[in-house]
Amino acid sequence: VRNNFYLTTPLYYVNDVPHIGHSYTNVLADCIARFRRLQGRKVFFLTGTDEHGDKIARAAKAEGVDPQAFVDKIAPRFEKLWTHLGISHDDFIRTTQERHTRAVQTVLERLHKKGDIFSGDYQGYYCTPCETFWSGGQLVEGKCPDCGRSVETLEEKNWFFKLSEYQSWLIEHIQANPQFILPKSRRNEILSFLKTPLLDLCISRPRKRLTWGIEMPFDKDYVTYVWFDALINYISGCGFPENGARLKEWWPCDIQLIGKDILRHHAVIWPIMLKALDLDIPKTILAHGWWTVDGEKMSKSKGNVVDPYQVINEWGRDAYRYFLLREVPVGQDGDFSEEAIGRRYQNELGNDLGNLVNRVFSMVKRYRQGVIPGPASKSSSGSPETRSLIKDSLELPDQLEGAMAQYDFKKALEAIWRVVDTANRYVEETKPWELAKQEDAKLDEVLYTLCEVIRILAIFLGPFVPDTALKISEILGVKPPDDGSWKAKSRWGELRPKGVLGPSQILFPRKDEIG
Ligand code: MSP
Repeated sequence: VRNNFYLTTPLYYVNDVPHIGHSYTNVLADCIARFRRLQGRKVFFLTGTDEHGDKIARAAKAEGVDPQAFVDKIAPRFEKLWTHLGISHDDFIRTTQERHTRAVQTVLERLHKKGDIFSGDYQGYYCTPCETFWSGGQLVEGKCPDCGRSVETLEEKNWFFKLSEYQSWLIEHIQANPQFILPKSRRNEILSFLKTPLLDLCISRPRKRLTWGIEMPFDKDYVTYVWFDALINYISGCGFPENGARLKEWWPCDIQLIGKDILRHHAVIWPIMLKALDLDIPKTILAHGWWTVDGEKMSKSKGNVVDPYQVINEWGRDAYRYFLLREVPVGQDGDFSEEAIGRRYQNELGNDLGNLVNRVFSMVKRYRQGVIPGPASKSSSGSPETRSLIKDSLELPDQLEGAMAQYDFKKALEAIWRVVDTANRYVEETKPWELAKQEDAKLDEVLYTLCEVIRILAIFLGPFVPDTALKISEILGVKPPDDGSWKAKSRWGELRPKGVLGPSQILFPRKDEIG
């Protein structure tokens, strides 16, 4: 297997400020990126913004500024949020960057020369908010089948991309590669969509209607359809077309994260574009579900759009990440509410993890002056309780690798929390406060065992709740592994006795107002 790992998120439209839905994709991607780095993979994690097209042009116009000034103002808000959330992307691509526009024009030229792009007359309907063409038969009660809004009638000359030519190839590719579209339900959705013949894709917009786009290199009267433009970022972001060596280093992509609403673009149009260009197809496209808020769809008009800054301010960014990763399995829809995040904060983060760390470190301070005691003598492997806790923690790396190979974040967190629970039970069963009265050797064994479990947990928690993992490691005075040595470092007994614990920190302070 190659060591490089390339992952992407969609490029977010800059007609809006980032909300919890956008941040979901980036949190999932970040967790994968951190997990792969932990495994010693060389990671390239790309995210960015989608800045052309009608939607953006209209938003700029509404603010009375030119589109470039408008996108220059909004794009940094996305970057800022990712920094605030601790997203560890390696590059941030904007579709207005020169490296990207050049790549798009190269693609257009190549496909035009090859005959996969041709000119034709377009007759039909157009949904401006969705920037999508529809034939009469596709409309639902005369409205856009995707968003239900009114459509405009259109008749004009345009440029088309021969999607239809590649339909049978695509079906075969999907059938031969069960990992290509995940989860399985989405794969079935695409396969059934492909049962009807594909229409060729209109990829141009006449300048008289839209100027805010990438000029078509072979016809100056047209600009490029925003989706055709934006999808190309996944290769323009890693060296296409000039830097062949870099492209080869990263392409094909290992995983592309998207929301379920943009599945067809990524699972139909995009692979066909790549095939036409003679480039490899991404290994996996993972479509996640959508978030509602208090059971309702987020919308500006309802005024219920969740601002990530506010949530992070209230609960901290680790709790925010934890909630998104843990609340629902990745393909399903989720519902955000203050009560739901509050519950996870108080129970799993505060009472389970926070409390474990806090009580263990306080006992080491109280009974051993903050010095980590030595492990049970080498000859015995400790009491049965100790052995069973050790066994659980040793099984974790494989369980995590298994869960993360299926991108099952929830399962991975549940596995970690089983060890947290076992460790808490171990405290209850061994009763260090009783041992402190007479049984010195036994107390040493228990405290060492607990510190060692916490050290190992911190390694595994890194991809999910990075700040918390770092805080725990700091108190223990250990450095979290970042060079692929995580399995070696999570072997039992790596923690050196006699280390002095650093100042305590309350990981998840109690919020007493939460019921
Ligand atoms: N610009 C296109 C993507 C181009 S990719 C080459 C786009 N942008 S978007 O800003 O509208 O949406 C970006 C992503 O945010 C999508 O994956 C979408 O699913 C996700 N989400 C937007 N609202 C969401 C929720 N309420 N919940 C979960 N994800 C949601 O589409």
